Parts: sequence; structure tokens; C-alpha cells
Amino acid sequence: MDPSASELKQRLAEAGQSHLLLFWDELSPEERSGLTLDLQGMDFQELNGFFKKAVELSRSCKDEKIDSRMEPVPQEVLGSVTRDKESLKCWEQTGLECISQGKVAVLLLAGGQGTRLGVSYPKGMYDVGLPSRKTLFQIQAERLLKLQWLAEEKHRRKCFIPWYIMTSGRTMESTQDFFSRHNYFGLDKDNVVFFQQGMLPAMDFHGKIILESKCKLSMAPDGNGGLYRALGKHGILEDMGRRGIDFIHVYCVDNILVKVADPAFVGFCVQKNADCGAKVVEKSNPTEAVGVVCRVNGHYQVVEYSEITLATAQKRSADGRLMFNAGNVANHFFSFSFLKDVVEKYEPQLQHHVAQKKVPFVDAKGELITPDKPNGIKMEKFVFDIFHFAKTFVVYEVLREDEFSPLKNADRQDGKDTPTTARHALMSLHHRWVLNAGGHFIDGNGTRVPAIPRCGAAGGVADDGNRTLKDGTDLPIKCEISPLVSYGGEGIEVLVKEREFHPTLIIDESGVHQLVKNGLEDEEEGKVLFGQL
Ligand code: UTP
Repeated sequence: MDPSASELKQRLAEAGQSHLLLFWDELSPEERSGLTLDLQGMDFQELNGFFKKAVELSRSCKDEKIDSRMEPVPQEVLGSVTRDKESLKCWEQTGLECISQGKVAVLLLAGGQGTRLGVSYPKGMYDVGLPSRKTLFQIQAERLLKLQWLAEEKHRRKCFIPWYIMTSGRTMESTQDFFSRHNYFGLDKDNVVFFQQGMLPAMDFHGKIILESKCKLSMAPDGNGGLYRALGKHGILEDMGRRGIDFIHVYCVDNILVKVADPAFVGFCVQKNADCGAKVVEKSNPTEAVGVVCRVNGHYQVVEYSEITLATAQKRSADGRLMFNAGNVANHFFSFSFLKDVVEKYEPQLQHHVAQKKVPFVDAKGELITPDKPNGIKMEKFVFDIFHFAKTFVVYEVLREDEFSPLKNADRQDGKDTPTTARHALMSLHHRWVLNAGGHFIDGNGTRVPAIPRCGAAGGVADDGNRTLKDGTDLPIKCEISPLVSYGGEGIEVLVKEREFHPTLIIDESGVHQLVKNGLEDEEEGKVLFGQL
């Protein structure tokens, strides 16, 4: 071993991680230098400290339920798209004005591994099978473009919404390459900024770093709360400062319905003078596995279902709704100054959470083992871990069916949060836009399709061309409206009012189309004729 390698050996021994060199004698020179490079960049004492604190935090959360210290979100910080209809326009105008002044940026969390979905490429590149075959990245890019146009049109000023995209060591290259191949989906390249979050090694339950091969550590991104460290490390705040950004909308890549830079949400937060805001959807039932936004000891935080008793989860208010019903959808607003404080002052105080995972590893004989139950932990910070530092915190309640349908899992019968449920959610929303704008759908017999589908319409069953499933529920009408035509349902009246459409209906920049094949709305044979109306 050369001097630097023996120094490394010494550091590993001091940190109780010597097993990482177990196969050293068997490695080729290239493998040795690769492993040395990986290990030299690591602070093992810091990692051991992260592990110790994360395990302590996880134990204390398990031991102590926090029900008695919890209070629901008070009315005065709450805005709602259903209960505050008269304020919505005004919030939206404020948001659009801020956008037109170039004060709003969006920050996309796209560093996850998407293990449950099970594809080898970044989730944003996923095509859920919409008629247009657009990917999540394209849908989001087009919503940004449209919003820029709306703000420009209203305020007669050219404006941009910078898009900061957080990737990880595993997703950076393919994400950048995808954007470049698609010409940034029409956005200005200079306003799309990629940066990379940190990675941490997976550890076994005793704090030993796991080897995924004889010469490679098992590494994973450090959670979406790795955002704050990454913002500081890659000079992103300086970039925002140079561009004059005052407000930032943060969101996750996997929500197909996300209203990127939502002007009403931004405007609501700005009018409330908030430094931090959370968009929420109503928790559907007491046992739904979703974190709720609430106050604990007077400070805002997200409380997971596992941290409270069932009795508390079941509590209801006088109006019959769950008392703790503000379901967190990882969709946030930050003022620039708050984000700066978080990055510069508070980030080191954030602690990692423990996620128990099945981590493939090499055993002492050098054989690769794929465990069938959790054998290790990944350490993650969460994007919402910083709520309790906020001085003025607000909560904005939206309708789940309009704004939240995440893509988490691969398709399977009756699956939750799958490509099918995401596709159905988007088409159902667009169907409602058409109906609200005065359009109608007719079936193959020329009969109008009822406006309210029978229950279960957004369920987890793949399209098969039939409108009705065996159990009598309706599939959503196949209808897709390009974000370049409408950001949130506006502007389509002129195209659809008092018209009748056969599904599949597609409205895009080139017009209104029905996918017709041999006069039917069946696309299976692939001979799709676009009939411009
Ligand atoms: P999830 O927690 O659902 O994780 O991320 P995931 O990586 O998408 O999927 P699984 O758990 O491996 O199946 C919620 C959001 O946070 C981002 C994801 O990209 C997604 O937008 N995220 C997650 C990060 O940006 N970094 C991370 O380290 C983890």
C-alpha cells in the first residue's frame, strides 16, 4: 500500500469501517484506485455521527407518540381553493404579477431513485401512456412555458421562470442529456439549471457501511432534504440572487397534476407575507399513510401516521372532517430570504431519518446477496424538515383530484399511484375542464356520456378501449389538453363550448383533434387519423 492508502486504512480502522478493504488483495489496480477515490472523499467520523443520531431519532419517534403536543393548523393561516373562492382571482393576479417581474423560480426535486417504479432511468423521463406520449418532464416544462406566456400577456413584459432541477449522482447525466435531446422542450436553456444532491452510503443495522461489490460502496441520494446542502454547495442561491428571485416553488417530479409555479399558491403566500408555505390535500381516511401538516409544541411540522395513535388519527372536527387532515404533498413555497437562512444557518441542525431497506451486499466470501427482508438503512433528510424554522407559515388546501396524483409504483391490478392512475387522473381532470367550458362527450351510439362518471373511474385498471369495466365503474374519457393550450383549464371555451366530441379528444397547439380510426375511437391497430375540427 502506498502512503495515502495506509493513511486511509488508518482512518477506516479508527472509524470501525476496516471491512471496506476486505477484498483489497483481490482487486485489480483500476478497482483499487476507484475504491480509494470513493473512500478518500468521505468523512467516516461524520458518517458514524449521522448514523448514531439518525438511529436515536428513529428510536425516540418509535417510543414516544406525540399526540398530546399536536394541534391542527389554525384557520388564520389556512387558504383553501374551495372555501376562499372569492380570493382566488386576487391571489392568482398577485402570483402572475410576481412571475411577470421575474421574481418567481421553481425548484424540482428529481434526485430520487424511483425504486418502486422500477425503471433504470429518471422518473421525469417516464411516459405514462397519454395519447400525446408526453413524459413528466415535458408536461412540467410546457406548464412553465404557458405560465410565462400568461404572465407576459397580462403584464406586457417578457419574463422567465427559472427552473432549478435537483438530480443525484445516479440521475444527473441522463436528465441533462434528455433535456438537451429535446431542446429543453422549448424553454430557454439558460433558465434551466441542473445541480446534484449529495449521496450517502447505506449502512447495516450496526453502522457498518455496506459494500455492493468487492470494490464499490452501496450509495444512495441523501433524501429530498439533501436539497439544502446541495443549494449551498453548488452556488444555486447566488444564481437566484443574481436573477432577482424572491419566491420559490418547490415540488416533486412524480406528481403528474402538479401546477408548477402555481400563481394562486404563490400569490396567497406572498399576500400573507409568508416565508414558508405548504400545499396540502385533505387526508382521505384516518389510516391513510400520508404525513399531516400540524403544529407540535407551537411549531409547524409534518407528522407521519406512525408517530400518532389511531385515536388521534381518527379525531374529527365539528364539520365532520378529520381534525388532522392537512395531507402533505411535498409542494412548498419559500421566500428567498428564508431559503437563504435555511441553507446558511439551519441546515447543519437537520437530522437524517432512517429508512430500512433491502440493500444488496457482498458477504464475507465475496458473494452478492439480494436480501428478501430489510438488512440495512438509508439515511435521508426530508424537504419539510425546515418548517419549524419558519416565522410566518401558511397552509394552502387544494383538491386532490385537481392537483395530486403521484407516480410511485409500477402498474399492477388495482395498484395505487401507478402509471395508470396517473394517466387516468390527468385525463379525468381534462375531461372536467371540457365539461366546465361547455363541451360534451358522446359515445359510439351518439349518446351523451354522463358528466359524472360512475364511481371508481380513476381506479387502477388499464385502458382497454371499453368505457365500462366489469364491476360497472367507468373508465375516464380519453381526453388530453396540452399545457401549451391551457395551464389550469382557462382559455378552452372558445374551442369546446356547445360542441360534442368523441373520445379520444386531443387539444394541442395545432388545434382540436379527435383520434378517429375507421370512424371509431379505437386506436388499437395504430391507423390513427387526426381529424381537425
Ligand atoms: P420518493 O420518496 O417518493 O422517492 O420521492 P423516489 O425516489 O421517487 O421513489 P422510491 O422511494 O425510490 O420508490 C419523492 C420526491 O423526492 C425526490 C424524488 O425524485 C421525488 O420527486 N427525491 C427523493 C429526491 O429529490 N432526492 C432523494 O434523495 C429522494
